[in-house]
Formats: sequence, structure tokens, C-alpha cells
Amino acid sequence: MDRDNKVLVVGSGGRCHAIVKALKRSPRVGKIYCAPGNAGIAEDAECVAIGVEDVEALVRFAKDNAIDMTVVGPEAALAAGLVDALEAEGLKAFGPTKAATRIESSKEFAKQIMTKYNVPTAAYEAFDDFDKAWEYVKNRPLPAVIKYDGLAAGKGVVVALTYEEAEAALRDMLLDETFGKGRVVVEDFLDGPEFSFMCVVSGNKLYPLAMAQDHKRAFDGDKGPNTGGMGAYSPVPFITDEIREIALKEIMQRTADGMVAEGVPFKGVLYGGLIFTKEGPKVIEFNARFGDPETEVVLPRLESDFYDLVEAAVEGKDCDTKWSDDAYLGIVLASEGYPGSYQKGIEIKGLDNVNTEVYHMGTKFADGKLVTAGGRVLMVVGKGATVGDANENAKAEIKKIDCPSLFHRTDIGKAALTEK
Ligand code: AMP
Ligand code: GLY
Repeated sequence: MDRDNKVLVVGSGGRCHAIVKALKRSPRVGKIYCAPGNAGIAEDAECVAIGVEDVEALVRFAKDNAIDMTVVGPEAALAAGLVDALEAEGLKAFGPTKAATRIESSKEFAKQIMTKYNVPTAAYEAFDDFDKAWEYVKNRPLPAVIKYDGLAAGKGVVVALTYEEAEAALRDMLLDETFGKGRVVVEDFLDGPEFSFMCVVSGNKLYPLAMAQDHKRAFDGDKGPNTGGMGAYSPVPFITDEIREIALKEIMQRTADGMVAEGVPFKGVLYGGLIFTKEGPKVIEFNARFGDPETEVVLPRLESDFYDLVEAAVEGKDCDTKWSDDAYLGIVLASEGYPGSYQKGIEIKGLDNVNTEVYHMGTKFADGKLVTAGGRVLMVVGKGATVGDANENAKAEIKKIDCPSLFHRTDIGKAALTEK
């Protein structure tokens, strides 16, 4: 059974690069394809030029190439029904069905599951009428948390500190229909440090992954606009085993069980975006997939076979995981201007001198040169005995990368460093 499994990874960012690298470490995995991949992934897998939402072409590729397992990265592919389409053809796929993906794609569905199955989260109301939403918000304390009920590329959440901001957000989402016609969820503001708890799930079975913390704001000190994530680290020292157990039982397990009870069993990675409040851990959001950039610091800590885990989830089997005590801390290098508009096609030099893992988030080759091709471009991941050591390592290696149009945060992991 050595290296006899062919795997297709769907996606193109740093998360997929980390998935590809973890698969490569498995003695059970042979050929790895990635659709569409990027310039860095091309060193570890064979990239195929199919877009993540081109369900028909992906299914055809998987059939024609006798793919044993497809691992789906981005939510857009899941929401497009890729897993359903693969399974309809008798192909194995790691990821939730379109119906189960609603735990991410519909904030209201997620809230309904949490309410019904007693999963701790902020109290909420859902609206599709501007007047009613505004009436509710203006009679509630600030900050007001307003969430667009659908996929909005990370831009559908507004934490309004003033009523003016809150009204503008409601107008945007309900009257101007910036993201398309939709509903909003208005919820209570929760306070505390956020952390990401990803569990591989197969129906009622949970295989928890190591904890991570993401940094969503663009600039140091958690300033600036929300982004896809500017850096992450694992482990998270201030999340004790006790808090983890509570989060596992009262949040992740109850949610997985709730989805089974609702007739939409979950398979794949259930990502809990959690917050540690004075009353205990609560849910900020769920995602139906690996987090990006969390995956780049979590999967390197997995010492057991990643393919065993993927297969166990798809087949509903037991699987023990083993995690390294090493700390990993990753810093994202993003294009100047991100998450707003930015230039692409700027040459990146110096990567050959870097002595640690670099995950490509948005790169490509143009005229034989490696160039920037996205908002988030690279993630440099340092390793060490502590988060502090991993931080030093990442910072030292970043200096070797020469690209004038990239910026990065300098305070990734600060919460863990000061609590040492
Ligand atoms: P989301 O896309 O739901 O993860 O929201 C993006 C960010 O908005 C989160 O990472 C939090 O920092 C913030 N946020 C969302 N909901 C709340 C809440 N109920 N209370 C406080 N902050 C929140
Ligand atoms: N890092 C947050 C996410 O993957 O949505």
C-alpha cells in the first residue's frame, strides 16, 4: 500500500499549500494534484488549471485520473456543491456537502443550530427589513455586531462602535444590497481573546486538531480593516486543557451532534472561531473548512499520518492523532493596500535563502520570474520550542525576502509572548 493513493487538492492559497505538504509527508500518498494551485504549490504537486467552482471539470478530472481522494480547501467550492457532485459519482471527498456547508455560508442557519442545541454564542435576531433592524439596533447597547447572512469574502461583519456606523452597515446590507439581496443577523458584542479550534468531523465523531490563534486586522495592535488573517500561531498557551475540554464538549461536539440530528451530518473540518469570554468559550462563527492562515501553523504539528485522518473522516473510522510540542508561528506578507486594492505582478526575490517553511498564498510565475498574484502573497512560518522562539525564527527569515510591495504585521503572537 506504499504511496498508492492519488489525491486531488482543490484550492490555491497557503492553506492548500499546507494541505499538500502534509499529504506529501504521508507514506500512503503518491501523486498529488492541485487545482488550480499556485507557483509554490507547483513545487510540491502537479497543478491543473481548473477553477475551484468549476464542479463539472473537477469531477471529470477526478474520474479520468482515478483520484482516490479529493480534499477541498475553499468554501466557494463547498458551497458550489463539489463534494455532493464527487460523491454522486462514487468518488471520495473530504469536505462537507452543500447542505452542511450552510454552517458557514448562512449565519442564520449557524445561529439556529447553536440555539437549538444549546451551543454557547451571542444572543441574536435576524432581519430582512431595514426599518425593523434599525429599530432593534438603536435600542440596544453598543458596540453592535451586524453580520450579512451569506458568503461575503470576510467583509460581511461590522462591529459598529457608534449608531451612525451601525445604521450605515444596515443600509449597505439591506437597502443597497452590496453583497446581493440578503438578511442580516444582529448579535450581542462578546469580549475576550479569540482562538481557532478546528476539528476534523465525521458525523458524531470528532478528531480535534491543535489550537491556533489568527490575527484578522491588517495592522499592528489589531488596527485597520478585517482581513482573511495576517498571521497565526500554535499552540495557544492561554487556552488551558480545561477550556479546550469545555469547547470540545459544549461547542464542537454539540454542533456536530446537532447537524446529525438535523439530517445534515458534517464531514470535513468544522472550524470554530471562538472567543474566551468571562462566562467561558463562546462561538463567534463557524467555518466549514480549514482556516487560512491557521492551517499553515497547525498541520506542521501533526506527527501522525494526515492521510489516515482524512480517510478516517470520510469512512467514519477511528483515528488517533499525535501532535508535536513544537510551536509554529507564521507571518503573512501581503501586498501594500490589501485588503483594499493593490498591485500585482511585482517580483519576489530571495526565497532560496530562506531556511524555514514558506507557504505561497498568492504567487505565480511570469516570464520565468516569481511575482505577486494576490492580496496575501506568502506566509513565513517559524518553528521553535516556544511561541517566542518561533517568532524570532520567522522574523529573521522574513528579512531575507526581497519584494518592495509587501508589508507584514510585527506583533503576531503577542498575546502568547506576554503570557510566557
Ligand atoms: P466573523 O467573520 O463572524 O468571524 O467576524 C469577524 C470578526 O468580527 C471576528 O473575528 C471578531 O473579531 C468580530 N466579531 C464578530 N462577532 C462578534 C461578536 N459577537 N462580538 C465581538 N466581536 C465579534
Ligand atoms: N482565518 C480565518 C478563516 O480561515 O476564515
